[in-house]
Amino acid sequence: MVTIVVDTKEIQADDGKSVLQTCLEHGIFIPNLCFMKSREHPHASCRLCFVEIYGIDQPVTSCTERVREGLVVLTATARARRLQQAAFKLLMSAHHCRPKACPVRGGCQLIRIARHLKVGLNSQPLERLERAIDEEVDLGLFTYYPFRCVLCGRCVHVCRQRTGHNLLTFAGRGLKTVVALFGGGDLAAAPCRHCGACATVCPTGALVLKGEQGRAASADSSLRAPQIPPR
Ligand code: SF4
Ligand code: SF4
Ligand code: FES
Repeated sequence: MVTIVVDTKEIQADDGKSVLQTCLEHGIFIPNLCFMKSREHPHASCRLCFVEIYGIDQPVTSCTERVREGLVVLTATARARRLQQAAFKLLMSAHHCRPKACPVRGGCQLIRIARHLKVGLNSQPLERLERAIDEEVDLGLFTYYPFRCVLCGRCVHVCRQRTGHNLLTFAGRGLKTVVALFGGGDLAAAPCRHCGACATVCPTGALVLKGEQGRAASADSSLRAPQIPPR
């Protein structure tokens, strides 16, 4: 164990654990979407989790920074906030938010991050990016809504971890990037375990299990923690 300080709070933390996970476990929320504690090498693709660390010139992503003795972390400085807000607005410029039609209205991570950062769910003043992709894709067991997808990779990772196969993958490039079934087709014809983990870890309601299985899987809240900020 080592001692670190986060926003004036002294914390006993596990040496080598990520700063983000340590903060979340101690009730200190830092915006994040792509982080999963089971990911040994974080993707750091959402760029939401910036913090400042005493002695380091530039803000760093807290999911890639490791805890060590004497670390002093600041999670809400003006510079860190600006970067968190800029990353969120960029993300929302490609995410078409329709809260009334969203299946995870109450639990959507984007709404909670927007509240935390005190920014709206639209991307202003950034231009809204038009993406030439389908509104809705039938994957057999699931419905996938590309415009809600923030390409965090959580579904791809959890599926690979559970099955040992690359059933889910990213397809397309640039603004056309979407989650797809490896090799095309639908999940009913793939070696899918129907475990529902991919939909459960999705922070935005982009991947929704159909019917009863959807409701059963969404009850598995252990997969979601510790993402949720305190209200
Ligand atoms: S239901 Fe389970 S096995 Fe099937 S795609 Fe999702 S995570 Fe993978
Ligand atoms: S479907 Fe959900 S979990 Fe998968 S990449 Fe998109 S937002 Fe992330
Ligand atoms: S959680 Fe750190 S970059 Fe996404």
